[in-house]
Order: sequence, then C-alpha cells, then structure tokens
Amino acid sequence: MIIKDAQFKGSFPKESMCPADGKPEFAFIGRSNVGKSSLINMLTHRKGLAKVSVTPGKTRLLNYFDINDEWYLVDLPGYGYARVSRTERAAFEKMIHGYLKNRSTLVAAFVLLDSRHELQKADEEFLEWCGENEIPILLVFTKIDKLKKSQLENHIQTIKSQLLKKWSVLPESFMTSSETKTGREDILNYIESILKNIPHP
Ligand code: GTP
Ligand code: MG
Repeated sequence: MIIKDAQFKGSFPKESMCPADGKPEFAFIGRSNVGKSSLINMLTHRKGLAKVSVTPGKTRLLNYFDINDEWYLVDLPGYGYARVSRTERAAFEKMIHGYLKNRSTLVAAFVLLDSRHELQKADEEFLEWCGENEIPILLVFTKIDKLKKSQLENHIQTIKSQLLKKWSVLPESFMTSSETKTGREDILNYIESILKNIPHP
C-alpha cells in the first residue's frame, strides 16, 4: 500500500465520540513505551504524526489518523503503566475496553509487544481479555533492531510459548523496527489485503 496522505483527524475520550463516517479502522495498542507512536510514524512515513514520548503514558486519548481518505489508524493509550493512580488506570481501561468492544468499524487491533522483554502480566491480562471478548487481534514484536538475531529468535520463542499456555492458536504476528523500518511492508500489505475485501462506506 502506498500512503499518499496521512492526516491527524482528532483525539477522542470515548468510543461514542469517535468519527461516525463508517471508514474501516485498525487500532494499535500495547504497554506504554512499547513503541506505538514510533510505529505509526514509521508506517505513515510521517515523522511527527504521532507524538513519540520521552515519558511513558503520553497517549491518553483515542487518536485518529486518516490514511488516504480511506481508513483510520487509531493510536490507543498504553495499558498497564505503574505511574498513574488506580482510579486513572481504571478510567483508561474503561475507555480502551469500551472502544474495542463497541467499535463496529474496527477491523483489527495490532497488539504491540516489546521483543526485548518477556510477556508482562499486563500483556497477558490484556490478551486474555481480547480472547474472551473475541476482539480480532494481530501481534507486533517491536524494537527488533535492539537485539541480535539469535537473541531475537530466542525472545520471540519465549513469548510465543508463554502465549501458547493460554491460546491454542496464535494470531498472525509481525516483527518491526521503527529505526530500520523493518516490517513496514508486511503490515501495510496485510492492511491492504483486508481492506480490499471490505465494502466501501
Ligand atoms: P506511550 O504513548 O507513552 O504509551 O508510548 P508509545 O508506545 O507510543 O512509545 P513511543 O513510540 O513513544 O516510543 C517509546 C520509546 O521507544 C522512544 O524513546 C522511542 O524512540 C523508542 N522506540 C520506539 N520504537 C523503537 C524501535 O523500533 N527501535 C528503537 N531502537 N527504539 C524505539
Ligand atoms: Mg504513544
């Protein structure tokens, strides 16, 4: 897919306030600091489109980007960061869960996992929730430039076996680096192939 145009559409505090024009959308979610905003900039080739944060927890709303006037890419807030209060965390969770459960135009959510770390409790809980609620998900292993090839294979294998304790089949997965742009074509081609089969609004 060629990204001809990528525009920030707006930030919304809940699903019911998100754009109602019926365009299909793909969401990106993961633990804070996993590299969501960097990945979005890498995919769109727009450096400052999504704000890359120095401090975790920068993305606090449902951020919409209109791609080619055809589909939306949605940057969701990170889950599971320790530095916010319990009440605040519950509010985020409500927003994310409400969005994922109710958004009829959501095609799939890309769940980002840091390829350097083992699966964290927050990831496990979130993925389990997605399974229970039948949210269509894909996995993205991020920051692969930070590991040597052999380390990377080891880590991915560990994460996958952790997941296979709960899942009988794993969702499709992608390996990415926002630094080297690895995985860009894979993800965009995947999105393109799905969009082809969706009737236009
Ligand atoms: P929040 O919005 O705070 O939840 O974070 P986020 O998931 O959007 O992460 P963000 O894209 O802001 O990246 C967090 C940090 O990781 C930044 O310092 C990025 O430069 C770095 N980073 C992100 N992706 C990559 C990558 O592929 N490779 C490397 N080496 N660093 C990355
Ligand atoms: Mg972000």
